Amino acid sequence: MTEIPQELTRFLASASRVVALTGAGASQESGLRTFRDAQTGLWAQYKPEDLASPEAFTRDPKLVWDWYAWRREAIKGARPNPGHYALVEIEKRIPNFTLITQNVDGLHRFAGSQNVLELHGNIQKVRCSECGTFTETWGDDSESVPVCERCGGLLRPDVVWFGEPLPRSELEAAVTASRACQVFFSIGTSGAVQPAAALAHAARNNGSVVVEINAEPTPLTPIVDFALHGKSGEILPGLVRAVWGG
Ligand code: APR
Repeated sequence: MTEIPQELTRFLASASRVVALTGAGASQESGLRTFRDAQTGLWAQYKPEDLASPEAFTRDPKLVWDWYAWRREAIKGARPNPGHYALVEIEKRIPNFTLITQNVDGLHRFAGSQNVLELHGNIQKVRCSECGTFTETWGDDSESVPVCERCGGLLRPDVVWFGEPLPRSELEAAVTASRACQVFFSIGTSGAVQPAAALAHAARNNGSVVVEINAEPTPLTPIVDFALHGKSGEILPGLVRAVWGG
């Protein structure tokens, strides 16, 4: 059991502005595979640029569409884990709480989190790759990539691919919240992808306490105030109990 430092519980008990940034590790205990974990990582089987880039979609739209359809299926059966629910509890107790996620699985909202910034989009949303029109229904004949009813362009998931910019308003809100917070949590993320990884530095440079909750040390570990290494589905509920009881 990872011990929660008393100093951290004191910071949290008196904080009014808190940010939590989550990555694939936060959904690992929901049965979803992380990106870079050795052996089990999704990317171990595929080169990321062959599946999650505009170039890949141009080269082989069907391969890319099928991969996202497969992930969508896996996510359909996934349920939030105790870490997701602990973040809902923290939001209830902190007046100004922002949850920034790199995950496209939608599990934070499923659990009940309200103020969520999805930096990399949401896999359940689909839009036209040509005209940008969103659609909630599409035909899946398994032979070809479904097309936009409006313009005939190929449909694609509304997620951020390698080389694509992040959604501007989400990114701006994430940077603003990270600069203003008193406590910043980095949870289940390898810190390998920018600009999400830079948010912890923005928080620290503005005087925030920075806390890492991760299965293992990351490039961020040397600069954090508290590094709690273990499963977020165990550490986060433990943190809630340590600060607010129950
Ligand atoms: N609890 C806490 N941490 C965990 C757990 C767990 N149960 N399981 C795994 N981890 C940690 C791993 O040790 C790793 O450091 O979560 C981290 C997951 O890292 P990545 O797989 O790199 O995921 P992430 O940081 O979210 O990747 C960022 O990269 O490929 C892009 O767009 C994709 O959103 C993704 C982004």
